[in-house]
Amino acid sequence: MSAQIDHLLSETRQFPPSPEFAAQAVATAELYGQAKADREAFWGDQARNHVTWHKPFTRVLDWSTPPFAKWFDDGELNVAYNCLDRHVENGLGDRVAIYWEGEPGDERRITYAELTEEVKRTANMLAGLGIGQGDRVAIYLPMIPEAVISMLAVARLGAIHSVVFGGFSADSLRSRIDDAGAKVVITADGGYRKGRVSPLKPAVDLALSDHNGSGQQNTVEHVIVVRRGGNDVEWNSERDLWWHDVVPAASAEHEAEAFPAENPLFILYTSGTTGKPKGILHTSGGYLVQAAYTHRNVFDLHPESDVFWCTADIGWVTGHTYVTYGPLANGATQLMYEGTPETPHAGRWWELIQKYGVSIFYTAPTAIRAFMKTGRHIPQQYDLSSIRLLGSVGEPINPEAWMWYRDVIGADKAPIVDTWWQTETGAIMVSPLPGVTATKPGSAQTPLPGISIDVLDEAGAAVGNGNGGLLVITEPWPAMLRGVWGDPERFKETYWEKFAQQGYYFAGDGARLDHDGDLWLLGRVDDVMNVSGHRLSTAEIESALVAHESTAEAAVVGASDETTGQAVVAFVIIKESYLAEHSPEGLATQLRQWVGEQIGPIARPRDVYIVGELPKTRSGKIMRRLLRDVAEGREVGDTTTLADTAVMSVISAQVK
Ligand code: PRX
Repeated sequence: MSAQIDHLLSETRQFPPSPEFAAQAVATAELYGQAKADREAFWGDQARNHVTWHKPFTRVLDWSTPPFAKWFDDGELNVAYNCLDRHVENGLGDRVAIYWEGEPGDERRITYAELTEEVKRTANMLAGLGIGQGDRVAIYLPMIPEAVISMLAVARLGAIHSVVFGGFSADSLRSRIDDAGAKVVITADGGYRKGRVSPLKPAVDLALSDHNGSGQQNTVEHVIVVRRGGNDVEWNSERDLWWHDVVPAASAEHEAEAFPAENPLFILYTSGTTGKPKGILHTSGGYLVQAAYTHRNVFDLHPESDVFWCTADIGWVTGHTYVTYGPLANGATQLMYEGTPETPHAGRWWELIQKYGVSIFYTAPTAIRAFMKTGRHIPQQYDLSSIRLLGSVGEPINPEAWMWYRDVIGADKAPIVDTWWQTETGAIMVSPLPGVTATKPGSAQTPLPGISIDVLDEAGAAVGNGNGGLLVITEPWPAMLRGVWGDPERFKETYWEKFAQQGYYFAGDGARLDHDGDLWLLGRVDDVMNVSGHRLSTAEIESALVAHESTAEAAVVGASDETTGQAVVAFVIIKESYLAEHSPEGLATQLRQWVGEQIGPIARPRDVYIVGELPKTRSGKIMRRLLRDVAEGREVGDTTTLADTAVMSVISAQVK
């Protein structure tokens, strides 16, 4: 990591906003002063500016029982009303909410009035199935408008959605359904990915069957199926309902009821340092306030003229906050795209930007690096002149990729906002403010007005400018997670124990403050990997590997990868009986596939090395640091704490 830090410290370029940009910018430098003068009053103002309350709140923050915060808690609102009805009431019913394009090129254009009506029907349909306040609905859909419609319909009823990324396997889906106790699953027959239909309904059927023979009942009463792929599906007539039968038949009249600000809004599962994903819980008022505030200020949103495009899937938090809630709360017009960037051709994304006049574009460094690799001649074939702001999220963006993004996509003038945040933070926490901040390639720079961040050493002391350490959030924030679903102890332990004395939230990220006090994110400091901006847990993949009959032991590390940031590399000890009968190559292929089936294709290891032993300390802890050295082809570091110091040379030889 020190080489990386040295490299970053030599970065001196700065890009102040142009006077024209600054003159029309939504965010102003005054925001910092206002937030500093009175943080709670500042958030109270944001809450009134960005959200319509059925019942106004009288108290901004209740932090009397940390780490359990309550924001705006005597206020009442309806999240879906804020994203829909109020815009229609304000005369914006004809504004396009979503331009949607399917991977094969089919199009839908949905106005706020149409979206509102569709959500009302869907809410009535769900209510007819008995869904009400506090019930859980799992959503397992491709990137189609019904994904957003479903989320909003659930929110409208005061129920809780749990969106499961469509790339997750039946097993991952089942464990999330069980953990949340979902009553309804909303899915599709399939969706288009990479030029063909990728089925979803079969995974739901498998998830809800007793395929592992555990005899365990599931909580699901109904499965709603959107027809998208046109692929054949099996049908359980007592349980399954076609969306096109039940939604159009439901009434388009639905009065949005007010719910308390702290009513749960959604659960979103994310990987932690153990094998079991955590259900991150978010509630309504504070989340919506910060989603809308950040979406407007960080992206400099001018809703009457901008076309916003966030490329994230709704299965991730970025899709929740910057496809569904932020843009719709702000009455934005956005583009939603079903497919992958390279299908049917390598210029697909740029073609879409040209076609829809996208002005604000938000994506991940891994995508930018992949485009760099294929070359600038591809985006240069398209008219990207509508772009006026670029955003980055999910992992550190290296200065080279940042400069390419600015030059090639942003015509050397669009400001780039590098936004740091997490599933747990709910919304952006650290980012330049366009029109205010002079940006620096590679640095996420400054906590947003109202957000308070520091970098501490292991002992809990602030490191100060020019030094690196652990990123903490020192004050509660409106969109903060309210807990881990069903596991308050894990919530406290994971995030609040490390700096309990100070009462700070520990993010799990390393960071450095430069001499100007700007933040440089350095990646995870725990056993969490970041592959293409997606969080994966080493423990979760290890437990999938050892669940395979051939595996005796497994260790997984995240090794740096030019395109995906990190890649999953597994070191596996195979049982003797299997080694005799199978080739190492065959076993490696089988295990890669197995992990894909158990968790999902994103978790599939790039490399599986069959080894005879793993490096362990005398207390039996696997030294992943040494395995990472091997995986990255570096010289192996200090091995003196190993129980058997010879083991690393054996492993290195086996890997070669
Ligand atoms: O390590 C940080 C990295 O992604 C983690 C959060 O992952 P997830 O909850 O999946 O949410 C991703 C999208 C918000 C963080 O702990 N990360 C996210 N954004 C950045 C980042 N690392 C560096 N720079 C960023 N802009």
